[in-house]
Amino acid sequence: MASLAHEEVIVRSGQRSGLPVIIAVHSTALGQAVGGCRIWRYPDWRDGLDDALRLSAGMTRKCALAGAANGGGKTVVAVPPGASLDGARRTGLLHDVGDAIASLGGRYATGPDVGTTPRDMAVISQRTTHVFCLPTELGGSGDSSPNTATGVVAAVEAVCARLYGRADPRSRRIAIVGLGNVGAHLARQLAAAGAELLVSDIDPAKKALAAELLATWAEPGEALTAPVDVLIPAALGGVLTSDIVPALRCAAIVGPANNQLAEPSVARLLHERDIIWVPDYVAGAGGVIYALAVELHKMPPEEARARVRSIADTVGLVLAGSAESGADPAQVAMELADRRILNGEG
Ligand code: PHE
Repeated sequence: MASLAHEEVIVRSGQRSGLPVIIAVHSTALGQAVGGCRIWRYPDWRDGLDDALRLSAGMTRKCALAGAANGGGKTVVAVPPGASLDGARRTGLLHDVGDAIASLGGRYATGPDVGTTPRDMAVISQRTTHVFCLPTELGGSGDSSPNTATGVVAAVEAVCARLYGRADPRSRRIAIVGLGNVGAHLARQLAAAGAELLVSDIDPAKKALAAELLATWAEPGEALTAPVDVLIPAALGGVLTSDIVPALRCAAIVGPANNQLAEPSVARLLHERDIIWVPDYVAGAGGVIYALAVELHKMPPEEARARVRSIADTVGLVLAGSAESGADPAQVAMELADRRILNGEG
């Protein structure tokens, strides 16, 4: 039997919505647990629980490696297939989420994630103050996705520096799988930097963005195994399976999708194939770094953005450690995170 690695997990039927609201507080060792609120469809609420358990543990590592004095948590609302969530029903659900967060008495604060926006954070904030990324007109730091994208670009540059001795992504072939909030910002930033882009999404309507950026469009399966310098997973987790590893034709994988590895052992398989995998919790920390810097530490935006770009230094540290020890980057990053948590270096 696996032991419970989390400090606290709450699962309740929302009083208004009747939907399963799950909050996993993985760790508060470095400080208040933070992590977004995911509202997503799952075949069974238990799948949502699994996701919350994994994603909250990822947030603990994300915060530790970002040098934040925060721990990891996550909210997942498991929406049953076919349920619609508009208008009053959505507001009721967000109030249910707010009440559940409030019941934790400040041990956990939320933010936007897959399926939620700064507007939703404003509704949650009617029930609890422990919410990041309210719209800027309401005094929050707003949409975190441009900052997450900026952090991924910094990580891509660190990888290019390592692979090619030149950080600039100009003319590098880069595939982006997923053009959601973060993926679309990434595509714009990398196109502006002169990268040669291959983009994909399960939603064909995103072809318009590809056309606008003069990027090549591909189906998600194709994009994943395209011959590129850098592959960027920017959709949901679990895309890197042991089956896909032999088919990959990229030099490195660096992206914001949380929980990219279908199983932890895939990190080793990638390493054995000489494919650099930058852990998602390193590359995707820009949003949370920015929100914490501006909202908790009252940093001016320019300074907060410089903090986001310092993800490049963390990537450099992890890759140098991996080259030195022969351990895969995930192992190096995990050890670094564990050390910071143990020493209280938030
Ligand atoms: N979705 C963000 C992440 O996975 C969560 C977040 C963003 C939390 C901003 C707080 C503030 O990192």
